[in-house]
This record gives sequence, C-alpha cells and structure tokens, in this order.
Amino acid sequence: MEIDLHDYIASIPDYPEKGVIFRDISPLMADGDAYKYATDKIVDYAKDRNVDMIVGPEARGFIVGCPVAYKLGVGFAPARKKGKLPRETVSASYDLEYGTAVLQLQRDAIKPGQRVLVTDDLLATGGTIDATIRMVEELGGIVVGTAFIIELKDLHGREKIKDYDILTLIEY
Ligand code: PRP
Ligand code: ADE
Repeated sequence: MEIDLHDYIASIPDYPEKGVIFRDISPLMADGDAYKYATDKIVDYAKDRNVDMIVGPEARGFIVGCPVAYKLGVGFAPARKKGKLPRETVSASYDLEYGTAVLQLQRDAIKPGQRVLVTDDLLATGGTIDATIRMVEELGGIVVGTAFIIELKDLHGREKIKDYDILTLIEY
C-alpha cells in the first residue's frame, strides 16, 4: 500500500519565528502505518548499502534512526547537542535555519571503516547533517548514505552534502 506522507505532516506558519513554516512529523509518528511505511522505505535504502551503523542528530534524528537500526539489527549512535555526552567526544558546529549550535559524538561511537547511514527527520539548510557527517568521518566512518523524511527544497541543503547519496521521502 502506498501512503502519501504529506498527509501526515503538520505545517505551522511562523514557528519558531516569523517567516518559517515548521514541518512537524508528530502526526506521522502518531500513526503506526505511516511511521512503519517511512521507516521501511529507509530500511530498504540502508539494505542496499550494507550499513553497519546508524547515526542521527538530536532529537528528531533519533525518532527516524532508531527504528531503522532496530529493524536492520545494527547499532545506533546519537549525535547530541553540546554538553550531553558523558565521555570523550568529537564536536562540530553548524548554522541552523534559526540559530547556531554544536553537536557532539562520543569518540568511540564509530569504529574506523564502519559503513554509516546518517538519518534525520528533515533536510533544511543541511547544516545539521553536514556537522554530523564531519564527526562520523573524523572518527573514520564511511558515510554510505543520508536519509530524511522531508526535504525543504528552497533551503538547498542538498547542495551542502552534494558529495553524498541522499534519500528524501517527501519534499516541500
Ligand atoms: C531540526 C531538524 C533537523 C534540522 C534541519 O532540528 O530536526 O535536525 O533542524 O535543519 P538544517 O538542515 O538547516 O540543519 P533542530 O535543530 O530544530 O532540533 P530538534 O530535532 O532537537 O528539534
Ligand atoms: N528544522 C529546520 N527548519 C525546519 C522547519 N521548517 N520545520 C521543521 N524543522 C526544521
């Protein structure tokens, strides 16, 4: 059964600031069939790439990446906002559509040579995913693909990660 995931995204104008249309995946997560459908699409993409490990940025990247890791039977490493991880980390800073931030990965999160899929709910400017990719590569991981539920075409995030393969399930 084909599902149009657009039907499960809430669009909130002027959130969190004027001019931004916030694309909320909560209705998708609340619907078992839609959540499974999106997860299975990313699982199929990952299977074609022989993935050893999934990495997703806090917080919505966990929602997308963890069920994919579970289904594949591979590990998941969280890229967390600065100051949340208790042991030695690597860091990368990035600009957001609204603001700037620093992400961190535990230094032992990835073993050199591991084939990594990076997941998130949404590709906007690409800053978050680019920072996540930089940390995976600093640890010696091979980024074999990136996967998102939503792509915001106007923000051209795809250009920032043009050296990598990209799966997006729906566009705005
Ligand atoms: C959102 C979203 C992506 C990122 C996309 O996360 O979940 O991670 O922004 O934007 P970009 O492509 O311009 O980097 P946010 O930083 O709002 O954090 P959250 O997941 O904790 O809500
Ligand atoms: N992250 C960055 N831009 C976003 C948007 N427009 N909606 C939801 N999450 C976002």
